[in-house]
Amino acid sequence: MTETITLPGLVDVHTHLRVPGGEHKEDFRTGTAAALAGGITTILGMPNTSPPLSTPEVLAAAREQAAQDILCDVGLFAGASPEEINRLVECAPRAAALKIYLNDTFGPLRVEDVPTLMACFATWPRDKMIAMHAEKQSVAVGIGLAATYNRPVHFCHISRRHEIELIAQAKAKGLPVTCEVTPHHLFLTEADATRLGPLGDMRPLLGTPSDVAALWEHLPETVDCIATDHAPHTLAEKQSATPPPGVIGLETSLPLMLTAVQQNRLTLERLIELMHTNPRRIFNLPQQPDTAVTVQLTADTITNEMVQSKCGWTPFHGTEVAAKVQKVVLRGEVVFEDGRVLAQPGSGKLLS
Ligand code: DOR
Ligand code: ZN
Ligand code: ZN
Repeated sequence: MTETITLPGLVDVHTHLRVPGGEHKEDFRTGTAAALAGGITTILGMPNTSPPLSTPEVLAAAREQAAQDILCDVGLFAGASPEEINRLVECAPRAAALKIYLNDTFGPLRVEDVPTLMACFATWPRDKMIAMHAEKQSVAVGIGLAATYNRPVHFCHISRRHEIELIAQAKAKGLPVTCEVTPHHLFLTEADATRLGPLGDMRPLLGTPSDVAALWEHLPETVDCIATDHAPHTLAEKQSATPPPGVIGLETSLPLMLTAVQQNRLTLERLIELMHTNPRRIFNLPQQPDTAVTVQLTADTITNEMVQSKCGWTPFHGTEVAAKVQKVVLRGEVVFEDGRVLAQPGSGKLLS
């Protein structure tokens, strides 16, 4: 008989749901279906939509759509924008946290000036997190802001050796910083980027073997969360002359991480901290009573055909894993079982 294990509902603090403006890539229903298929029952949606989630009006409209469509619990990030910075505080009641993009990536949001950064840190409510897309020297900028304003900063998708080492040193000094790493930065390298072409292109880029080794070395201590950076784009877009960066991850994160557990690369207890306890604590997200994920510890192959996300492909197509999500119960209701999503649109809770 196949061994099964039961986990708490997992949390992904970094998902791109594409509403408004990118509904052909993903929408609230398909994105939350992908989450449930991956054993994830709470997600935080990113603000680099079109238009971005940078005004209370756009946030309110996105929340209205989400309330009708979501299958699991969802909070939304507000996005810092220099043009709309005077509207930022009004966004806070509708947002789970603030996202600041310091480096080039997909979408219109970018903050490259100090006055906007100062306004974010001076005005965003202190009880809500500030998360950053910060690469290379921008990590040092974020650590400096955390120290200067004496308030927590969460670093998204840390991917390079010197970045994770800098964060380890900041933590050793007692600075209030946390960070996440993605499964694609743990399981793929720049060699896979060459093999996959545009299907292996994302920001941050895949790292060198030394970068990947550093992330694994710091997984027991420095890393706080596994987050997917689920960033769907259609195959047609990826195969176009100007492919956008990004890959999905909601459905493959847990099977990949449990495979690492089976290979003794981390413990099951640590996996639960990284995928449930820490993200919930860092972003102050509510508990979900009567919620559990049943996983079969069995050989399985990830394929494009099993993808619930609207984009229909994964960079892990063909990858062998050691676990398969069998069933997800959310607040007492069976919402996913044997490959089928059973939750009703609108049954997820919208977080503020
Ligand atoms: O590869 C990425 N894609 N990195 C990001 O920071 C944004 C994301 C997207 O929205 O597609
Ligand atoms: Zn990012
Ligand atoms: Zn992202």
